[in-house]
Amino acid sequence: MSFQVKNNVKWVGQSDPELKSFHGGELSTPRGSTYNSYLIEEEKTVLIDTVWSPYQDDFLKNLKKDVALDKIDYIVANHAESDHSGALPSLMKEIPNVPIYCSRAGLSSIKGHYHKDWDLRPVKTGDRIGLGTKELIFIEAPMLHWPDSMFTYLTGDNILFSNDAFGQHFSSEDFFNDKVDQETLMHEALKYYANILTPFSVMVRQKIKEFSLLGLPLDIIAPSHGMIWREKPTQIVEKYLEWANDYQEDQITIIYGTMWHGTERMAEKIAEGIQSKFKKTKVKTFSILENDKNELMVEIFRSKAVLVGSPTVNKGILSSVAAILEEIKGLGFKNKKAGVFGAYGWSGEANKQMEETLRMGGFEIVEDGIKAQWNPDEFALAKCREFGEKFAQTLQ
Ligand code: FEO
Repeated sequence: MSFQVKNNVKWVGQSDPELKSFHGGELSTPRGSTYNSYLIEEEKTVLIDTVWSPYQDDFLKNLKKDVALDKIDYIVANHAESDHSGALPSLMKEIPNVPIYCSRAGLSSIKGHYHKDWDLRPVKTGDRIGLGTKELIFIEAPMLHWPDSMFTYLTGDNILFSNDAFGQHFSSEDFFNDKVDQETLMHEALKYYANILTPFSVMVRQKIKEFSLLGLPLDIIAPSHGMIWREKPTQIVEKYLEWANDYQEDQITIIYGTMWHGTERMAEKIAEGIQSKFKKTKVKTFSILENDKNELMVEIFRSKAVLVGSPTVNKGILSSVAAILEEIKGLGFKNKKAGVFGAYGWSGEANKQMEETLRMGGFEIVEDGIKAQWNPDEFALAKCREFGEKFAQTLQ
């Protein structure tokens, strides 16, 4: 299928509504996704990005319904990750001499993926190619979210093809932001930001500032995943600025793993203690095993502080908690406070290890962690409540 985005610009991508996870299973996608490819038919014909390789046959079959492939003058590869470049090998078999425009970093990433002698033409920010009365302007966007990431802007129609930036893993029969449930759309956009773009927030701020200085009017933002922003497209830019600025809400998130419910009961009492001091603060408690890892990252993204709990097992942390901590550390959240807690039997090393990882992830440990030996009794649980109160006070 294809549909008109604006004037001579069509969406020619692939919907993947059944996709349940992404990035090798690392990212949950319960609402599916789309791989957005765009066809521009001015005096020159341009294809912007392709689709993930499992869909390359369908992509080519559908594309041929819209355009004779030998009419394509240029291909733009805004980013080499396989979900956008995966159909290039099949496409280039049919039109091997068509130039592919990419960022300078894209030379290495496209070659590194496909090892072909395609006519790769590196461009830098401000470079243009004419399509007749309109032009494409290239804007390098390194680390949004790969070194090779690039935006392409179409003059006249004022469309920014932003690739992964401003995208969402969200499939719907309606492809435009004004046609879908707004809460779901913004949740998926935030989940995408929190899980993919958080480490690059400084670059996000810089890139948005740089783009604003170019003074290019913006009618549509056409990302490479999910809905196309045609109604108030700057709303997502404003959200990105908010999110990129060490975002936090009045929320404290407690996540824990537990074997025999001891650490779980500690978590509940700590939450009670915090809530008794902060009546209006959202205090949310989650079992790590029973919740989606990527949704937990959203909760942490929203929070001003996080508490992590694990019992000690084999002189360390539960593997489920260790995996979450690794994710938290990698995302490099900024300006957040943390604390730890956990039950133990005879050694109790988990707290120290969790604190170390959280510090490495940029969190400030504001209160020494609390432990409870064996099965926490009423006295131990009262201490947990007190710990929660003290933790809350350090945030005031
Ligand atoms: Fe949607 Fe970085 O690929």
